[in-house]
Amino acid sequence: MTTATTGRTTVKGAVGTAHTRVEGRDKVTGAARYAGEIPFADLAHGWLVLSTVARGRIRSVETGPVLDMPGVLTVLHHGNAPRLTTDYVGMLGIPDPTAALFQHDRVPHVGWPVALVVAETPEQAREAAEALVVTYEREPHDTALVAAHPDAYAADGHMPAVTEKGDLEAELAASAHVVDAEYTTPEEHHSMMEPHAATARWDGGRLEIVDSNQGASWVQSELAKLFSLDESAVRVRSEHVGGGFGSKGVRAHQVSAAMAATTLQRPVRVVLTRRQMFSLTGYRSPTVQRVRLGADPDGRLRALEHRSLNQTSTVYEFVEPSAGVARVMYDADAHRTANHVVRLDVPSPTWMRAPGEAPGSFALEAALDELAERCGVDPIDLRLRNEPETGPVSGLPFAGRNLAACFREGARRFGWADRDPRPGLRRDGRWLLGTGTAAASFFAGAGPSTALVTAEADGGFTVRIAAADIGTGARTALTLVAADALEVTPERVRVRIGDSDFGPAMIAGGSMGTRSWAWAVTAAARELRERLALGTDIPPEGITVRSDTTEALGALAQKERHSYGAQFAEVAVDTATGEVRVRRMLGIFAAGTIVNPLTARNQLVGGMTWGISMALHEEAVRDRNTGGHYGPDLAGYHVATHADVPLVEADWVEDHDPDDPVGIKGVGEIGIVGAAAAIANAVWHATGVRHRSLPIRPDRVLSAGTGASRA
Ligand code: MOS
Repeated sequence: MTTATTGRTTVKGAVGTAHTRVEGRDKVTGAARYAGEIPFADLAHGWLVLSTVARGRIRSVETGPVLDMPGVLTVLHHGNAPRLTTDYVGMLGIPDPTAALFQHDRVPHVGWPVALVVAETPEQAREAAEALVVTYEREPHDTALVAAHPDAYAADGHMPAVTEKGDLEAELAASAHVVDAEYTTPEEHHSMMEPHAATARWDGGRLEIVDSNQGASWVQSELAKLFSLDESAVRVRSEHVGGGFGSKGVRAHQVSAAMAATTLQRPVRVVLTRRQMFSLTGYRSPTVQRVRLGADPDGRLRALEHRSLNQTSTVYEFVEPSAGVARVMYDADAHRTANHVVRLDVPSPTWMRAPGEAPGSFALEAALDELAERCGVDPIDLRLRNEPETGPVSGLPFAGRNLAACFREGARRFGWADRDPRPGLRRDGRWLLGTGTAAASFFAGAGPSTALVTAEADGGFTVRIAAADIGTGARTALTLVAADALEVTPERVRVRIGDSDFGPAMIAGGSMGTRSWAWAVTAAARELRERLALGTDIPPEGITVRSDTTEALGALAQKERHSYGAQFAEVAVDTATGEVRVRRMLGIFAAGTIVNPLTARNQLVGGMTWGISMALHEEAVRDRNTGGHYGPDLAGYHVATHADVPLVEADWVEDHDPDDPVGIKGVGEIGIVGAAAAIANAVWHATGVRHRSLPIRPDRVLSAGTGASRA
C-alpha cells in the first residue's frame, strides 16, 4: 500500500482495498436504468423477423396485410431499407457484414434478420412481426461441424494460423510416452442476464443511440462506418450493462433501430428476445481439437502438437484460436499449433469468455493430465518440469510468469499433497470422488484510450472516459485508480463512463478494459495534480486535462505478457445416474495488481463458475434438418445456477506488471481458463474414465461407465 500527501491530508492508497460498487445502491434500488427501460417521448418499437430457412433467398416479403394491422408504422426489409456500407472493416481488421442488415436477399443461416416491423407499442410490433409472411427459395444447407470436414482451411484470425518448429514426427517416435487424443467442445452462448437493447433517434443532426454494449466509442465508430456518417455525427451511450461476455458489439438491434429512426424520423427501440439472441448476437463455435504430446520418461516434453477446428459463417471468418494457448504455455523440442475453420450455414461466431484459451486449455490441460498418468508423474510436477524460459514460439521474455507460485499456493491450500494419484478409489456412498488440477494463462494487454479528468471548483474531481462497466466493477476500479493518481480519497472522485462523447477508449474486452482505462486515467490525473500543485485557482468550469495512451502503448517493449493461474477441483460422480457435481474449487491467480479485491474476486469466481458451466452444462444443439437450435432459451440451454455452484474460492499471489503504471494485468477471463480441464481431470480421478467431450453429461458418464461400477 502506498502513502501519499495532498496538502495537509495524508491519504492511504485506495488501490488494493475493498470497495463496494459506487453504483451499487442505484442498482439494487432500481434507480440505475438499463438500455431497454430509459423513457423517450414519442417512442416507436421495432420487432425483428428472422429467417426460418438455413440457406437460400428471400422471394417475397408480404408487407401489405401487416401494414394494415393496428399501430404498425413501417416494415423494413431488403427491398426498402437504407443502404449501408457492407464492406466496412470491423475491429479484427477484416470486413464484417454480420450487422449489415437488409442489404440483399441472401439468407446465410436460420435466424438471419429479414425484416423489422415498427409499431406504436412492442405488443403491436410483435403481433405484426409474427403475422408477416416471408417466402423463401430454399437451398441445401450444411450446419454440422465434423473433424475431417473437406472444406476446412487454416485461418489466421488475430494470430498466425500455424506455428511450427522442429521435427514433430521424429520427436514423437523418440518419446517414451505419447498421448494422442481428440477433444471436442460444443457450441456455447454468452447468455448474459440483460438482453441486447437499443434506442435510436436523430437529435440536432446527430444519430444518438442509447444501448447496452461493451464499448460506446467502438459501437459509435462501427455504426458511423456502416451508415457512412462522420464519427462526430454519432453518439452512443451505454451507462449500465447487464453482462456482455464478448457478445455486446454492433448487432442487429442498434442497426435496425437506427434505420427505422432514420425512416420514421422518431425514436425507435429494438429489444432482442432471449431466443433471438441465439442467432443474432454471436456465440462460441464448437471445436474439434487434437493434441499429441510426446515426452521423456520423466515427463519432459519432446513434442507438442495442438490442432483446432472451429466453424464460422459464410458471412464472416471468425477464428476461435484454441491452439494459441499452447504457444505461450509449454515448450517442446518440436512444437506445432494450428487453427483451422470451416464455413457453414450458421451464424457468425464471435469472442466469448476467453475465446481460444477457454476451449484450448480444456484440450491441452486434459492432455497433460493424461500424460502425467502415463509417466507416473504428479500433474503439478509435470507442468513445473515443462516451464519455459522464454515464449515457446516467440522466444520473447516473459513479463512475469508466476505460474509456479500459483501452483505452490494452490496445492497447499487445496491439500494436494494428500492426494492418492490412483483413480477410482474414493467413495462417499454411491458417489465416486476425485480431484484434478490444470494451469491457466490469459493474454495481458492494453488498448489505446483517452480520458478527461477535471478538477471541479467545489474541490471534487470528475473523470470522464468511454469505459464500459459490464458488471465487472470497472467504474469502482477507476474511482480507486483516479483517487490514487490524484492523491485524494475516493469520495472526492466521480467517474462517468459509457458515452462516446468522452472520446475513444478501449472496449470492455480481452480482459484489457480496466488496465487500458486505468492507464489513461492515471496519465490525465497525474498531469492534473502537477498543474494543481502550482497553486492554480480553479475557475467555475474547472480545469480539465485530457490524456491519450496511444503513444505510450506503442513504445512498450515486446514481451510475453500474461496472467496465470492454477485451478483445482473436487468432484463427486453418481455411479447410478451419471451426474457429476463439483464439490469445491480453488483458483490461485497471478494477475497483476488487484485494484479492488472485492470485485476482482467476483470476476475470478465468476470465471470459474463459467468453467463449471462449460464442463458440465452448456451446450447448444443444432438440428441438422432445419439448421436451427433445439430449445434456444435458458430452459433448453442450461447455464450453471446456484444449485450447481458449490464453494468456489479465488485468491491471488503477489504479482505486478512492471510496465503498467498501476501494475495491472486484468482479471476478466483468466478465471475460466483451465477450469473445465481441472473438472474433467477430477472426473477421471473419480472414475478412471477420460471424458474428452464437453459437457460431461450424465448420459456420457453412464455410457462411458465408471471404473468402479465395472469392477
Ligand atoms: Mo471478452 S470475450 O473479450 O468480451
